[in-house]
Amino acid sequence: MTIVRPEIARLSAYHVPDATGLIKLDAMENPYGWPDDLRDAWLETLRHVSLNRYPDPQGRELQQALREGMAIPPEAAILLGNGSDELIQMLALTVTAPEPGHPTTVLSVDPGFVMYRMIGLFAGLDYVGVPLKSDDFGLDLDAILAAIDAHRPALTFIAYPNNPTGNLFGTAAIEAVIEAAPGLVIVDEAYAPFTDESFLPKLGRWSNLLVMRTVSKMGLAGLRLGYLAGPPEIVEQIDKTRLPYNINVLTQASATFALRHRAVLDEQTAAICRERERLFAALTALDGLTPYPSQANFILARTNPGQAGRVYDALRDHGILIKKLDGAHPLLADCLRITVGTPEENDALLAALGDIVNPG
Ligand SMILES: Cc1ncc(COP(=O)(O)O)c(C=O)c1O
Repeated sequence: MTIVRPEIARLSAYHVPDATGLIKLDAMENPYGWPDDLRDAWLETLRHVSLNRYPDPQGRELQQALREGMAIPPEAAILLGNGSDELIQMLALTVTAPEPGHPTTVLSVDPGFVMYRMIGLFAGLDYVGVPLKSDDFGLDLDAILAAIDAHRPALTFIAYPNNPTGNLFGTAAIEAVIEAAPGLVIVDEAYAPFTDESFLPKLGRWSNLLVMRTVSKMGLAGLRLGYLAGPPEIVEQIDKTRLPYNINVLTQASATFALRHRAVLDEQTAAICRERERLFAALTALDGLTPYPSQANFILARTNPGQAGRVYDALRDHGILIKKLDGAHPLLADCLRITVGTPEENDALLAALGDIVNPG
């Protein structure tokens, strides 16, 4: 069909496997629900939401709750997105090449979060992915600085911690990237609930630094809410690409409520961090699997050569869904990504893996 842009026609649609009846360890969700009293209090809040009215366009009450709950510096402006995916889209729609003679380019590291490239492509931007170091998935600073020099990116995305590798890049290296980049640098802290490190306190130190976060991984993935914090003069421009009323009334009310009851979510994320360490030790003890250290709520693990597909399929047969990354990038050969679940889910995973990779 000639009406479709060729780069779109070449794509396959984003595929989400059906997880019905399976232990779901594929999508970095928080596996815990809420205690009954909290659920009741939340439902009571929703009684007062006016579904017949458009939402507050800026989500001011929610912004305030985020500012207080997440310690966003007062001098930073906030922009809300329908998931951080939508914020990436707004960023892509806002920018142009910072220097003449270059295409408008998105730069990130590979393997990294695929939506930087995908959304860049949707918006008609070029994408440059700088390979991570093959031994520890660290940032190859020389390579990234050379790529910045050659491509003069409008947007540079650094996920901190990185998905799908789970590691934090060195702070000094990220700061060197911020200093070298001619455009905006977005430190994507989607996995902030699982690490103590953050660039939020550094906002304002560089005029091109923005920090992006989401409530998805802390336990509110169903609400679809991301937030971007940065210099007001930049945020104001990005805000112009936002579709009116992008954060619906139920999300605004529910997220504001959840942030006022943060302690429950904080306990859950702390439990996930404890389980991550237990899971990491147990995976290390398996002969046929090498896990990589993680500061996020998932663990990347490498199987013996050629075994990733077999392990993935066998886990599915045991009723457990994880993510197969083998084939997604050369550095991810034989790799699987396992989201940390509840203790019971992790036990089920470990028991199944014991049968699959260390049979007998
Ligand atoms: C690094 C990173 N950024 C952003 C997102 C998207 O988050 P959201 O659910 O807010 O769209 C993800 C989701 O997996 C991610 O891994």
